[in-house]
Amino acid sequence: MTEAYRAMLVRRLGPPEALELAELPRQPLKAGEVRIGVRTVGVNFPDLLQVAGQYQHKPPLPFVPGFEAAGEIIETAPDVTGWRTGDAVLLRAASSYAEELVAPAAALWPKPADWSWEEAAGFPVCASTAWIALLWRGRLRPGETLLVLGAGGGTGLAAVTLGTRSGAQVIAVASSAEKRAAAQKAGAALCIDPAAEGWEKSVQADVVFDPVGGEVSSTAWRALKPGGRWLVIGFAGGAIPRLPANRLLLREAELIGVRAGEQARRVPAAAKALDHGMKEWLVGSEGGRPLIARVYRLDEAAAALRQLANRKAAGKLVLQPR
Ligand SMILES: NC(=O)c1ccc[n+]([C@@H]2O[C@H](COP(=O)([O-])OP(=O)(O)OC[C@H]3O[C@@H](n4cnc5c(N)ncnc54)[C@H](OP(=O)(O)O)[C@@H]3O)[C@@H](O)[C@H]2O)c1
Repeated sequence: MTEAYRAMLVRRLGPPEALELAELPRQPLKAGEVRIGVRTVGVNFPDLLQVAGQYQHKPPLPFVPGFEAAGEIIETAPDVTGWRTGDAVLLRAASSYAEELVAPAAALWPKPADWSWEEAAGFPVCASTAWIALLWRGRLRPGETLLVLGAGGGTGLAAVTLGTRSGAQVIAVASSAEKRAAAQKAGAALCIDPAAEGWEKSVQADVVFDPVGGEVSSTAWRALKPGGRWLVIGFAGGAIPRLPANRLLLREAELIGVRAGEQARRVPAAAKALDHGMKEWLVGSEGGRPLIARVYRLDEAAAALRQLANRKAAGKLVLQPR
């Protein structure tokens, strides 16, 4: 094994173009850790926030960004059991914009043999966000109606997929025909263009999954049923919506904040249930895999992040280090 590996490095916070390709020295493993030879890296909206210094967790500079990957185990700490060199895995992991990464063995999920590396790498963050949001925090039940905003994006498509698999009737809101086609393929029963005047009057939802914020949230608020649950996932549109509390009261509705990673770290029962839910999703998962919009080289990470920031990705973007 060589002693150095290539990674994209943030030396100063800023736009994606500030990322630099660098050679980093390999560090020895600690107890419970494995080293992964990364085949593919998943790109997520929070990567943009992290590179810009706007994410909740701010690693000290310089750092390697990223939150998920798929690859093969190339080394295990002596105390690790259940995993072997050569095993194909996917995981949520910090510093994934790299040829290699080190992670706790407990974070690994086995890669389904019939999934591509791209599909495996694009799964962990958005699938676990959708799972914690819809099933753990949102208590989505079969037969309920789920309205997904930003439904052609990463978390949105995962929510459409999981909502459909969970027996909900899914309504997808997405701004382009390509994104709406992706949502329909993922199982949405109805796809809506948010530019259509008065669309919110034609639907009623038990649960709303909102990763967008801004104007579409304010409009969609009228589509929430009495007793409904509104899941606050993120603000990809940039504006934090001002949701009127009097409407919460009148509809006896619930406003539920979701931080998937934090929930799993803070609540052991959530982490256990999530692990189980992800394994179930990954096994016998025909139709459950993410849609890959485009594959970039690792050193093209800035272009991938720019495509995401420009709202031009219908599905997941991924990077390949080799
Ligand atoms: N709470 C959590 O645990 C958690 C976990 C992961 C991600 N997130 C957050 O969830 C949000 C969405 O993440 P994602 O992975 O779904 O992102 P994504 O793949 O970029 O999708 C976001 C969607 O938001 C819409 N959008 C509206 N205005 C936008 C703008 N100015 N720039 C970009 N997108 C815009 C777009 O849909 P239309 O074109 O259809 O409007 C886009 O497809 C982010 O804020 C992210 O930080 C939260």
